[in-house]
Amino acid sequence: MEEFFSKKYGNQIKLGVIGSRPEEARTAEEGDETTESPLDLEFDYLPRDIKKYLDRFVVRQEDAKKVLATAICDHYNHIRRCSANVPCKEYSKQNIIMLGPTGVGKTYLVRTIADLIGVPFVKADATKFSETGYVGGDVEDLVRELVQKADGNVRLAEYGIIYLDEIDKIATPANILGRDVSGGGVQRGLLKLMEETEVSLRTPFDLTSQLQAAMEFQSKGKVTRQVINTRHILFIVSGAFNRLPDIISKRLGGKAIGFNAEGRRAPKDEDWFREVKSVDFIEYGFESEFVGRLPVVVACHELGVDDLFEIMKNSEGSIMRQYVNAFEAYGIELSYTDAGLYRIAERAYEEHTGARSLVGVCERIFREYKYHLPHSAVKRLELTERLVDHPDEVLEEILQSARALRLRELEAALDSIAGEWSQKNDIEIRLHPEAARILSRRAYESGERPEEIFAGIFRDYEHGLNLIRGAEGIRFEITPEVVHDPKAALDEWIRSYYVSREK
Ligand SMILES: Nc1ncnc2c1ncn2[C@@H]1O[C@H](COP(=O)(O)OP(=O)(O)OP(=O)(O)O)[C@@H](O)[C@H]1O
Ligand SMILES: [Mg+2]
Repeated sequence: MEEFFSKKYGNQIKLGVIGSRPEEARTAEEGDETTESPLDLEFDYLPRDIKKYLDRFVVRQEDAKKVLATAICDHYNHIRRCSANVPCKEYSKQNIIMLGPTGVGKTYLVRTIADLIGVPFVKADATKFSETGYVGGDVEDLVRELVQKADGNVRLAEYGIIYLDEIDKIATPANILGRDVSGGGVQRGLLKLMEETEVSLRTPFDLTSQLQAAMEFQSKGKVTRQVINTRHILFIVSGAFNRLPDIISKRLGGKAIGFNAEGRRAPKDEDWFREVKSVDFIEYGFESEFVGRLPVVVACHELGVDDLFEIMKNSEGSIMRQYVNAFEAYGIELSYTDAGLYRIAERAYEEHTGARSLVGVCERIFREYKYHLPHSAVKRLELTERLVDHPDEVLEEILQSARALRLRELEAALDSIAGEWSQKNDIEIRLHPEAARILSRRAYESGERPEEIFAGIFRDYEHGLNLIRGAEGIRFEITPEVVHDPKAALDEWIRSYYVSREK
């Protein structure tokens, strides 16, 4: 088991039974849930280490990186102390709210951290729960999903991270008519999970788990109650919170918060977010207990053109790497100029969906390239400013010159094939340049190899060629006519061969 986990999660996590006396180990193996067999979570990161790691992938969001790194360290250090059988003192879990516009790295930050520390991670949209009728059962699915992500290891799942996006959509503001009443229900369901509860791994609605239970009963004569405790699960919620800046500014009495005095820029959402207090979330439509369970609040910033450029050029998860790899699979080397990347960043910025728009912009630029280049002769592609602005035009040019080059290559190949064929069959033939051009175009368009194209002409010649084999002093020529009607041409060759012999 230990080997399995160290392979899967690196050596950050070790399975260890405290005391590891053989009889204790055995009860743990038998799945007796009264035996504490905590994971010896080897968590020895400092907040700075986590931030450094995040820096490799996520551009900007300095505040968010620091706050997240610190909260994560607090959380896992606390767990480590608890699982070392030191009595757990009262501790308020560092659940986190992340504010900020779409596509600026909220999910990406959390996912990257979960990867680093090797705990299971589940992500879902909070809206998913308000749509369905019955709420409690559904939010508990998140916890069960953690167990799946941990490959069935309940102990590991108990230290996982649950990430809920679009949390602002389950707010139930008092002053909005026809409000979505289920939002409050979802909040209460989540609240229960965030505090501490035991979630059964088997749901009465899930046929598979019922079958498993039945089988277990048959083989062991009893069914172990499998539950997962949510005490140590970290919850991170996020949302755009569009109405929040207004609420904050109203609370502050429209007071200038230091930057919209004369000559200064107007405050942005993220400037207001910095002033956010619990009361603002309550005003937004969250229950006070719910807000109280999310003590860490952090705002992510909007990404500017320079940030988007930086993401493409330097971040380790850059979308450009994806394209480089995609083209490389066809033997095409993709390179890019800074100006080209910057132009993409400018385009993406116009869409106001953060780094998310980079994907769309690149997809539109490269769509036709990804289709046409693999079967072309193009071996190099450089992403330039002009390519970004006029992708179709540039593609046309590239394909034209690649086509010309490829046709020349094919002609040369056909020439030498004709030469080899001549020698092998002891018949002197020559490929007329015009015929070579026709054949090379045929090969280019059909994708057939030049050898196949050439063999195609002489497909039915087997017998006829025997008649003229070894003809001395006669040079046959593959002309365009031969290409168009090989049969007639062969007859003509045979005829002229006998005529010359008569002489
Ligand atoms: N700051 C950033 N640095 C590097 N890449 C980023 C950054 N922000 C976003 N990305 C890229 O954009 C993608 C989408 O970002 P992400 O899913 O984190 O957005 P989000 O902030 O969670 O948005 P939403 O509120 O819509 O869920 C990421 O997978 C990542 O590739
Ligand atoms: Mg997200």
